[in-house]
Amino acid sequence: MEEKEIREAALKAIGDSKDLKSLEEVRISYLGKKGSVAALMARIKDLDPAERGAYGAKINGLRNEVEGAYNQKKTELEKEALEQKLKEEAIDLSLPGYEFRQGYRHPYHLIIDEVTAIFADLGFEVKEGRDVETEDYNFTYLNVPKDHPAREMQDTFYLEQGGLLLRTQTSAEQAHAMQEKFDKGPIKMICPGKTYRRDDDDPTHSHQFGQIEGLLIGKDISMADLKGTLELFVKRMFGEKRSIRFRSSYFPFTEPSVEVDVSCAKCGGKGCQMCKGTGYIEILGAGEVHPAVLRHGGYDPDVYSGFAFGVGIERVAMLRYGIDDIRRFYQNDVRFLKSF
Ligand code: DAH
Repeated sequence: MEEKEIREAALKAIGDSKDLKSLEEVRISYLGKKGSVAALMARIKDLDPAERGAYGAKINGLRNEVEGAYNQKKTELEKEALEQKLKEEAIDLSLPGYEFRQGYRHPYHLIIDEVTAIFADLGFEVKEGRDVETEDYNFTYLNVPKDHPAREMQDTFYLEQGGLLLRTQTSAEQAHAMQEKFDKGPIKMICPGKTYRRDDDDPTHSHQFGQIEGLLIGKDISMADLKGTLELFVKRMFGEKRSIRFRSSYFPFTEPSVEVDVSCAKCGGKGCQMCKGTGYIEILGAGEVHPAVLRHGGYDPDVYSGFAFGVGIERVAMLRYGIDDIRRFYQNDVRFLKSF
């Protein structure tokens, strides 16, 4: 091929190149060491020495022209390729983003809020309490004798630091409330929080559970005050139709002591599977504050009296929402948690 044809073919091939890869092939075939332009240049040795200079200059001109076209095309194609890449990798802000799911309040906290609201309406203050307690507050000040089985290792989580434990009952807050009351006047407080026992976990027992302690100290506080208060609480919590029942019981820190049952939601008191045929379900322990407990708190039992109660938070939630297994509260199953 002659110089003129090569120029035309090369410029056309460069112009027709659709991408960098085909352009590179064009470059090799025209401008490469074994390409057409090099082949033309090689003919120089067959020419008269007098013609060589002009010929060489002509072919060099061709090379420069083709190279120029090649470089220009290369820049164009590179720019196109970059634009294409940017287009493909572009973030389309109009796409819907990831959905951030909102959390749910745990039924444990829902119940605390509801119970707290009811007692706050009755003028009770809310105390925070503490999970780590001394043996004195958890047992001694509550009139629990030194040899009481509840103090033993299988029931209580003792800490390595001497005398400290994870409280087994929110009742531990009773003596704190009384001792902290600087004027030794009346007290109306509730204290919601976690409690811990070395129970084997089963559908109705968990090594960690919540309680809400109630303590009312004043003058001439009787069992009738306790009953009236709890009745009001139960009706607001579970509905007007529910009734309560006191059963006599024993706690070292109350005298007399009672366990309080609520009429069964399912059968209304007739007896069914849920209430095991009794018509009632136990929800709390309560009683008149024992004189020894008042004394530990710095109150004179001849002047003051009071009542106390302890409600199981999960137990209330289970009755309220019809939950069958206490372990669900601590398994973090979102399907369970979002159902409230
Ligand atoms: N502390 C008791 C328990 O954990 C519950 C209880 C019973 C609390 C009677 C009280 C009470 O304040 O008066 O089983």
